[in-house]
Amino acid sequence: MIIPETPEHLDAVRQLTIEAFAASPFGHNGEADLIDAIREQCAHTLSLVAIEEDRIVGHILFSPAEIHTLDANGVGPTVSGPDVLGPNMLGMGLAPMSVHPSHQRRGIGAMLVKEGLRRLDELGNRFTIVAGHPEYYPRFGFRPAQEFSVSHGFQGMPQDVFFLRPGPSQDDEFSGGRAHYHSVFGPQHEGS
Ligand SMILES: CC(C)(COP(=O)(O)OP(=O)(O)OC[C@H]1O[C@@H](n2cnc3c(N)ncnc32)[C@H](O)[C@@H]1OP(=O)(O)O)[C@@H](O)C(=O)NCCC(=O)NCCS
Repeated sequence: MIIPETPEHLDAVRQLTIEAFAASPFGHNGEADLIDAIREQCAHTLSLVAIEEDRIVGHILFSPAEIHTLDANGVGPTVSGPDVLGPNMLGMGLAPMSVHPSHQRRGIGAMLVKEGLRRLDELGNRFTIVAGHPEYYPRFGFRPAQEFSVSHGFQGMPQDVFFLRPGPSQDDEFSGGRAHYHSVFGPQHEGS
């Protein structure tokens, strides 16, 4: 069962996040604290939990993101921040998500992604971005962001793990830009 997170789920989500990332090849690198910071600092989030036999076994979080479009010379806008509209497009970023190690590879992650995207599509969300494994996200309609000439701004992270899924009927609108997750995710596009 996939349902929206409620305050009574917060402790279990924190524990789940720590355990899922600790068991992954990358280890736990503060994702549980990142989730708390996103909850505090982002005006709009979508947070869903997967429940099996009264236990939280999965969690997914979406938070506001922007694509700062580029002008004909490839130069971005001079202002940035969550309130900028103008040529910037508002959408959502998917991160983090986790499924408890005891419940992985049973499709729970897929159910969380699909239900999240379904709800965002219904709300008219214009795009969703995600950084992750190239074999996983395309099955949900994500395409390499490079196909849209959209780049992420995290130093040291390759562009080919960055994906974009346009909302329904939004395919034509992406013609280059810099994607920004909320600043809570850290510095992006520094020096560009
Ligand atoms: C990523 C995660 C949420 C997937 O949850 P899940 O319920 O196991 O996912 P599903 O059952 O829907 O799908 C499993 C598929 O994802 C693939 N997959 C998931 N993460 C992967 C990764 N890091 N590398 C390679 N493949 C991965 C598996 O190979 C599997 O593919 P298959 O179905 O073709 O065999 C879970 O593995 C997890 O919590 N990992 C630790 C935290 C993490 O890395 N989160 C993602 C980054 S925010």
